[in-house]
Amino acid sequence: MLSGRKDLLGIQELSREDILYILDKAVEMKKVVLSDNKKIPNMQGKSLITLFYENSTRTRTSFELASKYMGASSANIAASGSSIQKGESLIDTGKTLDSMGTDVIVIRHSASGAPHLLAKNVKASVVNAGDGMNEHPTQALLDMFTIREKKGKFEGLKVAIIGDVAHSRVARSDTYALTKLGAEVFVAGPPTLMPIEFEKMGNVTMCESVEEAICDADVIINLRIQLERMKSALFPTVREYSEFFGMTPDKLKFAKPDALIMHPGPVNRGIEISSYVADGDQSVINEQVTNGVSVRMAVLDILCNE
Ligand code: CP
Repeated sequence: MLSGRKDLLGIQELSREDILYILDKAVEMKKVVLSDNKKIPNMQGKSLITLFYENSTRTRTSFELASKYMGASSANIAASGSSIQKGESLIDTGKTLDSMGTDVIVIRHSASGAPHLLAKNVKASVVNAGDGMNEHPTQALLDMFTIREKKGKFEGLKVAIIGDVAHSRVARSDTYALTKLGAEVFVAGPPTLMPIEFEKMGNVTMCESVEEAICDADVIINLRIQLERMKSALFPTVREYSEFFGMTPDKLKFAKPDALIMHPGPVNRGIEISSYVADGDQSVINEQVTNGVSVRMAVLDILCNE
């Protein structure tokens, strides 16, 4: 069980029961988030540091809010403006935070495995807020929360994941979660951005076209193009990418009429998804953001108290 663990580093290490336990706790936390008095004492007397070596709006802010709603003291360290710029190592930074009595460190890093290295070297609980192309576990948990809230189940659902799969830690964590929970995953993207290891992750089908992947889909997860992780051009032009892989009303017709449209954000409007689809009736992109706070409250509560 997640209870008794020091850290949350990835979905790969969680069981189906762990994931459902977090989602159930997040249901209770959502009542707090939606109430007029967003205050519970579950992290009273605890401290949380967000240690972000990469940019973030949603993840960093929702961890800060989650900890504050539960009564913790929190602070943020960004790579720019900290001693990281003077060359301080990740382990030394972690030990420095430990020495200040930090209870939880939430880390985002461009290197896959950085949170695991930190977790081995600090007393604080470590939560992975995205490590390179590896995992983004709390994004997957909020995605699962949103899917379960809307569809009421995972078994038998057809979930399409579209776009830059190769560079996407969201695609990796979502696929681990969805296959553990009993959904079928269909993946489509440019051939240069389709990693073959996905086929080994469970009930996953690699598709040759977006239309094949989203045919009769219950859920479509559109991924952001991660230009910052591409060392060379992996598709000819953004215009062509958008034409073949961008989610438009015409492509959406292939999915079920009540298919959910999801995107982890930030959205590149007009590239991986049209504004019409992103803002349309089937979109739950803003609800994903709301659910992110509840899910992160649940994770922090479990790590601090169980
Ligand atoms: N989805 C996500 O990780 O968004 P941010 O980069 O804004 O945190």
